[in-house]
Amino acid sequence: MSDNDPVLRIEDLLVRFNTRRGPLLAVSGVSLALEANEVVGLVGESGSGKTLTGLSVLGLEPPGATVGGHVWFRGEDLRAASHRRLGEVRGASIAMIFQEPMTALNPSLTVGTQVSEVVRRHQGLSRQAARARVLDLFDLVRLPGGARHLRSYPHQLSGGMRQRVMIAMAIACGPAVLIADEPTTALDPTIQAQIIGLLRDLRATLGMAVLLITHNLAVVRGLADRVLVMYAGHLLEEAPTDDLYAAPGHPYTAGLLGAVPRPDSDRDTRRLTPIPGQVPLLRGEPEHCVFSPRCPYAESRCLTAQPPLRPVGPARSHLAACVLDRIPDPAGAAL
Ligand SMILES: Nc1ncnc2c1ncn2[C@@H]1O[C@H](COP(=O)(O)OP(=O)(O)O)[C@@H](O)[C@H]1O
Ligand SMILES: [Mg+2]
Repeated sequence: MSDNDPVLRIEDLLVRFNTRRGPLLAVSGVSLALEANEVVGLVGESGSGKTLTGLSVLGLEPPGATVGGHVWFRGEDLRAASHRRLGEVRGASIAMIFQEPMTALNPSLTVGTQVSEVVRRHQGLSRQAARARVLDLFDLVRLPGGARHLRSYPHQLSGGMRQRVMIAMAIACGPAVLIADEPTTALDPTIQAQIIGLLRDLRATLGMAVLLITHNLAVVRGLADRVLVMYAGHLLEEAPTDDLYAAPGHPYTAGLLGAVPRPDSDRDTRRLTPIPGQVPLLRGEPEHCVFSPRCPYAESRCLTAQPPLRPVGPARSHLAACVLDRIPDPAGAAL
């Protein structure tokens, strides 16, 4: 493996469910790569397949899911790895912050015990060494009150503090990759900003690659080097963060950007224009562009197949799955 190889590469990921109403294609042909120390944002509305993509990396997809494709981690295909091997990778090399902090923490154990268990399991530390390591981690995630909370139960902490504990557990073993699923969604805006700042600092200090999963474009902008936009199980756009915000290449992204509150206006008057319609549930590979039912620019050629990702704009690294060379009026996509 050369230095330029990505640390994690998802190749042609497919997640399918058989439901009572028939098959459901939740993730369809998603490919993405994370370079070492890179933060990649995976954004899209609820139901687009972001969480399933993250869970599939570690073999944590829900029962009933059929998963296809490959997940390469340092030359090893994790989708072909044994349960035992995945157990070793999970938490130690690839860590995940789950979408629901309250369900991911055990309500009947102190947070000190829970963080300590992670370091003891993966690093074989003594009880005393583990305690010292937990205090270091509490410091690193700037848990207010630090040592005082070794004996606190999750319900005794605020949402922001619980999220800091979750982050402490995730980074406990110095993972090469952190998958953070909606790490700020349940928090109020001030705490959200603190957690984003913390993740930014940790990434710089610890040098890990981060897959940041969120429906919040403001969170991505503050943290990600690159952004991938997901919709109905498909990647619709991929670009360096600044390029994406300056000139979105897909009408869906343009619509999402139109729906972002403007930071310069105050709360009551901020613009928030959601894209009309909903993320469709796909029963199989679509025979048209997945976004066409909601797209203000849809034309007849959009109704024959899902367009593949292709370069748009000046940067080769900016890709969009759209037949248009440029969006006629980006602001108009949100109307
Ligand atoms: N256990 C399951 N059984 C059936 N469908 C599921 C299951 N889990 C998720 N899905 C469906 O897969 C789609 C994508 O889910 P998810 O990855 O959680 O989306 P996101 O994280 O982008 O909101 C959703 O439409 C959801 O209903
Ligand atoms: Mg999700």
